[in-house]
Amino acid sequence: MADLSVNIAGVRFKNPVVTASGTFGFGREFSQVYDLSKLGGIACKGITLKPRDGNPPPRIAETPSGILNSVGLQNPGVDWFVKHEVPWLKKYDTVIIANVAGNEIADYCEVVERLNESQVDMIELNISCPNVKQGGVAFGTSAKAAGEITKAVRNVCKKPLAVKLSPNVANIGDIAAAVESEGADAVSLINTITGMRIDINTRRPILTNNTGGLSGPAVFPIAVRMVYEVSRRVTIPVIGMGGIATWQDAVEIMLAGACLVQVGTANFTDPYAPLKIIEGIEQYLDQNVISSVTEIVGKVQIYE
Ligand code: SIN
Repeated sequence: MADLSVNIAGVRFKNPVVTASGTFGFGREFSQVYDLSKLGGIACKGITLKPRDGNPPPRIAETPSGILNSVGLQNPGVDWFVKHEVPWLKKYDTVIIANVAGNEIADYCEVVERLNESQVDMIELNISCPNVKQGGVAFGTSAKAAGEITKAVRNVCKKPLAVKLSPNVANIGDIAAAVESEGADAVSLINTITGMRIDINTRRPILTNNTGGLSGPAVFPIAVRMVYEVSRRVTIPVIGMGGIATWQDAVEIMLAGACLVQVGTANFTDPYAPLKIIEGIEQYLDQNVISSVTEIVGKVQIYE
């Protein structure tokens, strides 16, 4: 049987499949469906310093082959997360990734300092949420801003640090290179792509936030292209996500350069999707006589 394990910055994932932030809560609902210990890891819903109610509804709109969301980082705040969610998640033998968001650099740093004392295994710095008026993607759309926040957080962060990048930029490679040079241990991409829907009868946007982030299979080819570009710009590990719904998608984005994948929107249509993806990757490796999943990372054969 092929070795599915992956190591990122000293953190061992038993397999390369992690559930993506914002699509899996803190795992409680999905734990009623299957054993969370089967997952490589869980990236929790974005956590901020104070609890947030998020944006007013409607904040989800279906699109062909995807969804638009404008949740607005609804979450119970870091103190609740550390006290109630992390100890509960620790019952499971899986990697816990805390996704961290904020309005200002100081907020991000404060959240990370509180997480330093918790049992989370890795931090995913969210500089790519398109649905908040302050912070979020504002830090992720220029190499300078992305570098500055990474530097500040790196100074206080005692855990392995991944930075989650936005696709809403002209050159994602530049942003990835900036966060690498300021000490990120990994990059994860892509977060959602800003989109909009309008109700033709009311002539009002469907989302109260007017715009939202597009995810799901519609964005998958963009994710593959960006993972490919970023993996050629940086030497740190690349975590790939964006519309992964099948094991074939997972293998494809790994060939592009991802050493780990996150499964997001697929959880809404098939809660078992991550488990099917793990099983499919294992069968693919065995059928192709590949002994370790790490052997396929970045192995796309590009036309010159
Ligand atoms: C949200 O809560 O609005 C989505 C989070 C994100 O896109 O990072």
